[in-house]
Amino acid sequence: MAAPHASPSPSQTHSVGLIVGSVSEPSLNRRFASALEKLAPAAGLEVTGIPIGDLPFYGTQYNDEFPASGIAFKRALDSADGLLIVTPEYNRSIPGVLKNAIDWASRPVGANSFPGKPVAVTGASKGVISTAVAQNHLKAILIAQGAAVLGAPEAYIRVSDDFYADDGTFASEGTRTFLTGFLRNFHTLIARYVQAAPAP
Ligand code: FNR
Repeated sequence: MAAPHASPSPSQTHSVGLIVGSVSEPSLNRRFASALEKLAPAAGLEVTGIPIGDLPFYGTQYNDEFPASGIAFKRALDSADGLLIVTPEYNRSIPGVLKNAIDWASRPVGANSFPGKPVAVTGASKGVISTAVAQNHLKAILIAQGAAVLGAPEAYIRVSDDFYADDGTFASEGTRTFLTGFLRNFHTLIARYVQAAPAP
């Protein structure tokens, strides 16, 4: 884990849509995301889950009429100040279910949900390099769509058997401090974009 940048205390709460890039049961990344969510209020973030498992495989036939799941997904993305994506690494990239969700988010043409949207990426694995390769694939995809991707700190999370306390929080104070710093940096990024956005 890299050291987080110093960041002032958040003064205003911002809404964040949380996407977990796994439909596994159980999911190591959903468990990680749940623990991360518990740190969000201290970073001035209000987190709401955005499910992706009900989206059909994207095809251009949907462009004229999105299904209800696609409409709900787009609304959730567009109403959030920022997006937090927690991705597993599958075969050195992101899972297909997450790529499918990104394809939905980028359509229809002219209504891409990503341009100017602050997005933070993290992910957990038991592997030595964690989800580094998947996260960097994901960041490249998001940048190409015009998202404002949090570059630093990076958060490649390697989980071990003693990573969580019984109540589902992170067991180690060091992990809590690092990840709260990660979320505070995301808050700073969101605040910059919210301030710059034109009044509705
Ligand atoms: C994996 N896993 C894995 N882990 C990793 O660090 N790098 C990798 O490239 C892969 N590749 C991979 C492919 C496939 C198809 C599966 C199912 C798994 C292991 C992976 O990190 C582990 O299964 C996690 O539990 C996946 O996260 P979720 O889906 O449980 O949240």
